[in-house]
Amino acid sequence: MSVAAPAASYAFKTTNLTRSFAGFKAVNDVSIEIPRGGVRTIIGPNGAGKTTFFNLLSGLLPPSNGHVFFEERDITDLDPYRRARLGIARSFQITNIFNKLTVYENVRLAVQANYDGKANFFLPTRRMGDLHARTAEILRDIGLFDVSGGLAENLSHGDQRRLEIGLVLARDPQVLLLDEPLAGMSPTETHATVELIQRISPGRTILLVEHDIDVVMSISTTITVMQTGQILAVGTPDEIRANEAVQRAYLGGLA
Ligand SMILES: Nc1ncnc2c1ncn2[C@@H]1O[C@H](COP(=O)(O)OP(=O)(O)O)[C@@H](O)[C@H]1O
Ligand SMILES: [Mg+2]
Repeated sequence: MSVAAPAASYAFKTTNLTRSFAGFKAVNDVSIEIPRGGVRTIIGPNGAGKTTFFNLLSGLLPPSNGHVFFEERDITDLDPYRRARLGIARSFQITNIFNKLTVYENVRLAVQANYDGKANFFLPTRRMGDLHARTAEILRDIGLFDVSGGLAENLSHGDQRRLEIGLVLARDPQVLLLDEPLAGMSPTETHATVELIQRISPGRTILLVEHDIDVVMSISTTITVMQTGQILAVGTPDEIRANEAVQRAYLGGLA
């Protein structure tokens, strides 16, 4: 009698993952497991390799060495499109805000594209109602329901970034990679976006790169600290705050 294998305990696993640019190792021999669920934040100084690491997870860049696993499966050779079909979504990779369409139309197109990519047995009328319901649900989640009749180009910067997240959500991804989603946002926009990330995180794994240390400490399930292409430390916010190596290398100014 065969017994079903237990679900992988991790979302991503990397083994000896390395990416060189002209001999310079932007990501250098990283072997880690990123557990499923929660908000998993990566911090580190500029140039630490955070974005390159994201690119290796999403498939935008091939590694120079090493492997990437997603839930037990070796995805090292899968392109970004195939990784997206496994449920790995990265905000910019599928993000095309249509400026001359309304906010509603932008989200509905993304929802529709996702439905079209899957077998579905809805009758046309039922399907239209379903499209609308899912579109409205996402618009409420991202806090843009009330402005959804306006053109996307008229949204503030912060609202456009939230619309981008909405377009990603339309794919109903298991894993979301968000690289500095708060960049350039006002305090009000930051607050709304942090709430959004918290609201969409149950049942998903959120990978976040973020600089705002107060946000990082309040939102993260775990924090991974990168430095010169390597992992300096992994831990809960309290563990990272108390970590002397992290204090010395990175959080020096954090009393
Ligand atoms: N396409 C590229 N070509 C050459 N060097 C790159 C490229 N992408 C990143 N780098 C270099 O790799 C290092 C890590 O960059 P990056 O991953 O963007 O860091 P972070 O996101 O942590 O600021 C930096 O020194 C950067 O200049
Ligand atoms: Mg970066």
